Amino acid sequence: MCGIVGVTGNKRSVNILLNGLKSLEYRGYDSAGIYVNDQEGHDYLVKRTGRIKNLEQAINEQGDVHGTAGIGHTRWATHGEPSEANAHPQFSNDDRFYLVHNGVIENYQQLKSEYLADVDFKSQTDTEVIVQLVDRFVVNNHMDTRSAMLKVLRLISSDSSYAFVLMDRQQPDTLFVAKNKSPLLIGLGDGYNMAGSDAMSMIKETNRFMELEDHELVIVKPDHISITSFDGEEKKRQPFTVDMDPSAADKGAYPFYMLKEIDEQPAVMRRLVSEYLPADGKPQVEDALLESMASSDHLYIIGAGTSYHAGLVAQRAFEKLTGIHTSVHISSEFAYEHPLLSEKPFFIFLSQSGETADSREVLVNVKKHQWPSLTITNVDKSTLSRESSFSMLIYAGPEIAVASTKAYTAQIAVQAILAKALGMKMGQQAAADFALKEQLAIIANGMQAITDSKDKMAEIAAHYLSKPRNAFYIGRGMDWSVALEAALKLKEISYVQAEGFASGELKHGTIALIENRTPVIGLITQDRTAGLTRSNLEETASRGAATLTIVSRHLANEDDNIVLPDVDPLLTPLLSVVPTQLLAYYTSLGKGLDVDRPRNLAKSVTVQ
Ligand code: G6P
Repeated sequence: MCGIVGVTGNKRSVNILLNGLKSLEYRGYDSAGIYVNDQEGHDYLVKRTGRIKNLEQAINEQGDVHGTAGIGHTRWATHGEPSEANAHPQFSNDDRFYLVHNGVIENYQQLKSEYLADVDFKSQTDTEVIVQLVDRFVVNNHMDTRSAMLKVLRLISSDSSYAFVLMDRQQPDTLFVAKNKSPLLIGLGDGYNMAGSDAMSMIKETNRFMELEDHELVIVKPDHISITSFDGEEKKRQPFTVDMDPSAADKGAYPFYMLKEIDEQPAVMRRLVSEYLPADGKPQVEDALLESMASSDHLYIIGAGTSYHAGLVAQRAFEKLTGIHTSVHISSEFAYEHPLLSEKPFFIFLSQSGETADSREVLVNVKKHQWPSLTITNVDKSTLSRESSFSMLIYAGPEIAVASTKAYTAQIAVQAILAKALGMKMGQQAAADFALKEQLAIIANGMQAITDSKDKMAEIAAHYLSKPRNAFYIGRGMDWSVALEAALKLKEISYVQAEGFASGELKHGTIALIENRTPVIGLITQDRTAGLTRSNLEETASRGAATLTIVSRHLANEDDNIVLPDVDPLLTPLLSVVPTQLLAYYTSLGKGLDVDRPRNLAKSVTVQ
């Protein structure tokens, strides 16, 4: 969702901006633009709706677009439709200031009527209000740009979210950078510097970064960075390096990232074993984290989308292996209405990107109360991981497809590792007996076997899922949790209206939706509920449903469609979800859709 790149002090600025924007494409966007300045009196603004290749083509057609500093943006429309006028950079009416913005300025209408009632606006964006306002303070009030920017930042309401990079034509080597809630990082080059929404947008140029915090203004010049708080206090900060292989984000020979990422799951499981489960199988987890968790009386797992679903699965491992009450919450709900909290809460944030605004809103509150927290994420030094008390990586490698796959299974595996480590720390026998290392090895092989049967999945998708408007995944307990994720995958990328249901609840209403050939897919991996789910499937079949089964081997019979290797009941989702990922993939592919970039969705949702 909205991506930002900025660079100063580099003759390759246009390329750097385009490469950065391409690496942010995965977040989802509907228009893109750049502004570059060569410091010799030439500057260029190019914006296009649609894909970055349209922008690139426009730049090439223009022929001479070049610069030593610039800013670029991919926009996911919030205020105003996707159009060239609404695309960023937005600029002041005198063409002096150019601004890219990610986030939402909640009080932009008020700022507009109070300060800019006489200004003609070219766009419907909240961003244009900010750039016109900077210009107003510079031109009318004779302020320097830095002071004008600071004044504007103080006028923006604190519930607003923003990552800003501003350029002033009269100081073309300077980026004025600030943020609140939305992600932004400074990248440090040799003789040039950058700003970007994440490390990946700059990793081809540098692996050295500097954090900026909310309510700071950073002045970025080619050879100098200065950070001040909005109150004018100067800040010093150490850079850090990120160990990331830029080629890990390439698609290779795969037609879509999603298929590559599904296929990478066995390797991710093996990587997690090598990172967290050394020879003796005793998990290697930071002791201070385990101490903090062991002294809590309730674990609150917080997440959005697929991450929330990964929390639902892991809740059982936490309760069974540690004996600590555990509940799982949708971050956007928990932020504004939560249950009565226990006396000693511990918060676990699940976030592939580590940037989700809804989850961060909860973390900000958790920090205010000084409650301890852990972020489990795929992105080292991401906002949530930097701001929580502890962090653990899921080592899934860059996940580019909007529909999350390998991050889901990696999040479940890391939570199982953590639950075992915590249970062992607390002297729980069940945790000591839980043969996780061996199980993850079996699971890696099982995932491989499932991903090797792609033809079968493609056939099932074509036969059952390509035509109907609706589809249902059903299951009980653990299988219900997976049904929710399986349905999310299908609806996200194939636009089939899919729902995950607790199978016992079907007959209390939802079974009314079953028509002739409605696909109903039963997930059956748990001994206690297998028979019940089979009966519920029968009930739908006798009303015309086209039923399918995904079943653990020891519960299978010869009519079952997809049979999974047997694993510990706490870990069955690591296998049962894989066929559902492939079914979603092939349904989307069969419909000729853009599997990696489904309509209206963003990979990283940085506004609430
Ligand atoms: C978006 C993505 C989902 C993801 C969710 C939470 O909606 O499209 O795939 O599950 O955000 O993201 P996070 O990065 O916090 O896991």
